[in-house]
Amino acid sequence: MRPIACIEDLRILAERRVPRMFYDYADSGSWTEQTYRENESDFARIRLRQKVAVNMEGRTTEATIIGRKVAMPVAIAPTGLTGMQHADGEILAARAAEKFGIPFTLSTMSICSIEDVAEATNTPFWFQLYVMRDREFIYRLIDRAKAAECEALVLTLDLQVLGQRHKDVRNGLSAPPKLTVRNMLNMATKPRWCMGMLGTKRREFRNIVGHVSNVDDMGTLAEWTHSQFDPRLSWDDVKWIKDRWGGKLIIKGINDPDDAEKAVESGADAIIVSNHGGRQLDGALSSIAMLPEIVERVGDRIEVHFDGGIRSGQDVLKAVALGAKGTYIGRAFLYGLGAMGEEGVTKVLEIIHKELETTMALCGRTNIADIDRSNLILPNERTDIFA
Ligand SMILES: Cc1cc2nc3c(=O)[nH]c(=O)nc-3n(C[C@H](O)[C@H](O)[C@H](O)COP(=O)(O)O)c2cc1C
Repeated sequence: MRPIACIEDLRILAERRVPRMFYDYADSGSWTEQTYRENESDFARIRLRQKVAVNMEGRTTEATIIGRKVAMPVAIAPTGLTGMQHADGEILAARAAEKFGIPFTLSTMSICSIEDVAEATNTPFWFQLYVMRDREFIYRLIDRAKAAECEALVLTLDLQVLGQRHKDVRNGLSAPPKLTVRNMLNMATKPRWCMGMLGTKRREFRNIVGHVSNVDDMGTLAEWTHSQFDPRLSWDDVKWIKDRWGGKLIIKGINDPDDAEKAVESGADAIIVSNHGGRQLDGALSSIAMLPEIVERVGDRIEVHFDGGIRSGQDVLKAVALGAKGTYIGRAFLYGLGAMGEEGVTKVLEIIHKELETTMALCGRTNIADIDRSNLILPNERTDIFA
């Protein structure tokens, strides 16, 4: 195995080790994948300003996100089906995050349940909520997150209908995977993954199966989404969810300044500027392109967080420089998990941390709080000059 130097190395390894349908589920965006691509490529258009002869000793990447001290301003984003990238994936990623000193967010659509993760960790994690038609189920889910002492509720607003990802349709994505000849042949080439799966009992949506009356056969993810995700979700729902939860609330999926304004009015503690990693509205502007406008509008009234396209510590620095108080990584951690389990997630965090710390030094910064726009050269300022 060649040495792992960057997130791309882990992506390549994950592609080799994870069955095709689950690797594709992670590495895809909706329709033409324009927004998915631009989430990453727009980061590359932002350049950094080099600084020299600044004392770099005693640098720290420590920061505070919604009142919690973190080793760096990075959290693990909620991702569905994580336990299909690697057996017990949510537990492994939560443990890696806990050891590193950053928050882990568990998805409603996870394989390991809230209770599974709570039992396997000691630090409170965050729980991401999707709102379903079955309100009794949602009440119970919120109560279960409270009982597990989750530290924050991350309410996702941008997936009440599902953006089509062509690869999932073609692969017939499901959890557990359907035992078709094609899937069996593909899985036969992934012995590590198969051994892991044979060794765990966690192979279905454990937040849901056994907790919902009259749904025992989950069917495919798309079928479940179509029948249960509530298309009537509105800002009025945010009110009762906030009241029932009673703790810190983060609203995820804001990609428009007017929506950010509504999130402030809802009394949430933070928003995540996000387009769901380019998996929903294809054609939306990248998250990093939207971030400055949203920070400008609401940044003095609410904590603004960010996700979408982060593949390096340099990307984290750029998002922080544009006003993000916290960032989240989705695919970056999934690639580490698929490649090497818990060790792989730890590797991802180490890589991003080292890149962030070194880049801070080369930009003449020793503290996260001191990073600002003057560290950047934005595309319209200088970099298009040679176009
Ligand atoms: C495979 C996958 C599954 C996801 N599942 C969820 C989910 O269940 N809930 C949610 O709020 N966001 C989900 N997301 C979106 C992520 O939380 C996050 O917004 C996105 O991954 C950030 O972009 P990045 O992957 O480029 O870092 C998912 C993303 C991926 C890649």
